[in-house]
Formats: sequence, C-alpha cells, structure tokens
Amino acid sequence: MSGKTRRIGIYGGTFDPIHTGHMAAARGACQALGVDRLLLIPDGTPPHKELAEGSATPGDRLEMARIAADRLGAKCPVEVLDIEQSRAGKSYTCDTLRALRQRYPRDELWLLMGTDMFLTLHQWREPETICALAGICAFGRSAGDGKDTFAPQKRRLKERYGARVKIIGLPDLVEVSSTQLRAALAAGERPDALDESVYGYILRRRLYGTRADLTRLGWDDLRACSYSMIRAKRIPHVWGCEEEAVRLARRWGANPDDARAAAILHDCTKYLNLEEQLSLCEKYGILLDDMERVTLKLLHAKTGAAIAGEEYGMSEAICSAIYYHTTGRADMTQLEKILYIADYMEPSRDFDGVERLRELVYRDLDAAVRLGLEMTIEEMKGYGSPVHEKTLEALDFLRKEQKKNNG
Ligand SMILES: [Fe+2]
Ligand SMILES: [Fe+2]
Repeated sequence: MSGKTRRIGIYGGTFDPIHTGHMAAARGACQALGVDRLLLIPDGTPPHKELAEGSATPGDRLEMARIAADRLGAKCPVEVLDIEQSRAGKSYTCDTLRALRQRYPRDELWLLMGTDMFLTLHQWREPETICALAGICAFGRSAGDGKDTFAPQKRRLKERYGARVKIIGLPDLVEVSSTQLRAALAAGERPDALDESVYGYILRRRLYGTRADLTRLGWDDLRACSYSMIRAKRIPHVWGCEEEAVRLARRWGANPDDARAAAILHDCTKYLNLEEQLSLCEKYGILLDDMERVTLKLLHAKTGAAIAGEEYGMSEAICSAIYYHTTGRADMTQLEKILYIADYMEPSRDFDGVERLRELVYRDLDAAVRLGLEMTIEEMKGYGSPVHEKTLEALDFLRKEQKKNNG
C-alpha cells in the first residue's frame, strides 16, 4: 500500500434495481469529489424500509450493481461490496463505516447520498459515528434541490457532530422512481432508466414480474441479455461483429437474421471461468478433447453454442456457427465462415493485416477465411501455443477446394 491518502467514495442503497439515476449520481459525485476509488454497497436488510414485494434477492441486487459498476464509465476503479449483505441483521451505515475504516485505515472516506437521505441523517443510528468516520457528500436529486434545501441540515450536522459536508449539484442527474421502474417492468415495458445490461440481467432472471420468453426475444432484448453476461469493454467487439456478420450475410447470400443472432450471442460465455465453463459442459453434455479441457479460450465457443440453443432456442445452424467460431472446421457452412471471419476482422479489430482481410472478404469469402486461418496458425506458433486440429483441418480443406477450383 502506498503512503498517499486516497479519497474513497462510498455509495450505498437498496439498488432495487440499480438504475441510470444511481449511475449518474455515482459518476457525477466521483468526479466532483475527485475520488480515487468508489465503493458501491447494496443494502442487506435496510433499516428504514421494508423491501417491496417482487423485489430481487440480495444476490441479484449485488449482481446488478456489479454489472452497473462495469458500465458506469467512472474515471476511477469501482468496486461492489457485499459487506452489508453478508452481515447478519439489519444494515446500519455506522457499522459499515467502522468496517471500512478498518479496511482503509489511512484513507479519507466520503459517504455519498441524495437529498432524502441527507435530510434525515441526524435520525440514523449513531450519526456522530458516521460524521466522525466519513465526510458527507450530498447531491441534489432534482432541479428543485437548491442550496436552501441543504443549508439548515448542513449547519445542524456541523454544529452537533462536527461533520464535514460537501454539497454538489449534478447537472446530468436523472430523476427515477424505483417503484415506477418495477411497475413498468412488471407491465412488460423496457424502462429508459435502466442500463441495457442491467435490463438484460432482469430479463434473464425474470425479476420484478418480467416474463420474457428467452426463445422469442426481439433484437434489442437479445442484445441486452447477451451484454449482461459479458464485460462492458467487450461490447464494441460484439456489436462490430454483429454489423459485419449481417453485411457479409447479405453479400454472400446467407440468412442475415441467422448471422445477426449468431454474432450477438457468440461470446456470451467468454467471461465465465474454467470451473463455470466445465460445469456448463457437464450440464449440456459437451464432450471435450484434452486441449479444450484446459483452454478457456476454446471452451467459450462450445458453451456459448449450448446456451444459444438451450436458453435462447437458436437453430442448429446458428449454434454450429458459434461452436466453430474460434477453431473453424473442415467444410464449413456459409454461416460458419461468416461468423468466423466477422469475429476476426470486424471494425473494432486492429492488427497488422486486418485491412487486407477486410478488402478480401467482400471479393472472395473462402480466400479471406483461408487467410484468417493462416494468420491464426502463425500467431499460435509465434506464442509457442499448440494449434487446434480443427483449425488445421479447416485450412487443409479450403486449400484443397482452391486447388480443385483452379483446375
Ligand atoms: Fe469468441
Ligand atoms: Fe468474438
């Protein structure tokens, strides 16, 4: 640990579900305070309110907070803590701050909160402890929350508890009611105030009375579900792959809808760890060779194909394109070739030779796949990594085809 005192922002809440209002507040407060790290802490059992009926479980709220943290776009690291959920009994902020003080003995703690919370702070358990352990950063939840709203409370907290209080205005703060949000979800709507990936998680887990049939999702909902399973930084790749695959399908006479679906889902299990991958393989009866058993990169294609088929009801053709998207195979279908090459050269990819692939693929699909395979094999050899036999077979097959066609 370095000797420098860091500023740590602490933002707790029920987050049922976490929405764009919370996210804008967290982002804005972080920036205004200049924090080095933000901690998001979903409540266990909040002392001040009973959880609404149809609420998500603590585990689901934690997971949604993790997804939102990854999508927040904050300038500092954001961590989601389960310290309130893992503690028995009701969650009290004073206890949480005591625990955080132990964890960060030399850092400056700042507790972030909206107007309602700030105005009742003196009624919380041990306000003196709270104010001694952390600075209070209050932000206006609506345009009406001017200085007049905050000033008397700020004075009171300072006089009674010696509180350090910082009031900040958040220009892009979004006003959202969680109650209305849950009602909209139960009515089958997709609220604007939910991040796409959080919404996808809600659909997948059928939270808040949503009853989505995952096998009949529209494109937006399918994307949301897929994105909820992957890290935010991978989304531009999956999106690029989707666009490229659809363009290629149109160019080469494959079904654009199949190409779109395959691309949206192709990396959906990419972030599962080896143990999770292997447990999916067991669940869906996926057979693995020795190389696959230890190579995470190869497993996600197989588990992704299984999820596409079993959970999202995708056709055999789509699942097969996902299944072979990393290795290829001999005698690939048009759709398999399209996903393989779109994954390789979609617009967000950047490596030596990608331009040549981009130009070639719209002239001669087989030649582009051949080149992609050759480049992969070279790259693997460069790393000293073994090349999958399916990749070698794919290249061998295409070379023979080329010879046949040349006469
Ligand atoms: Fe992949
Ligand atoms: Fe990919």
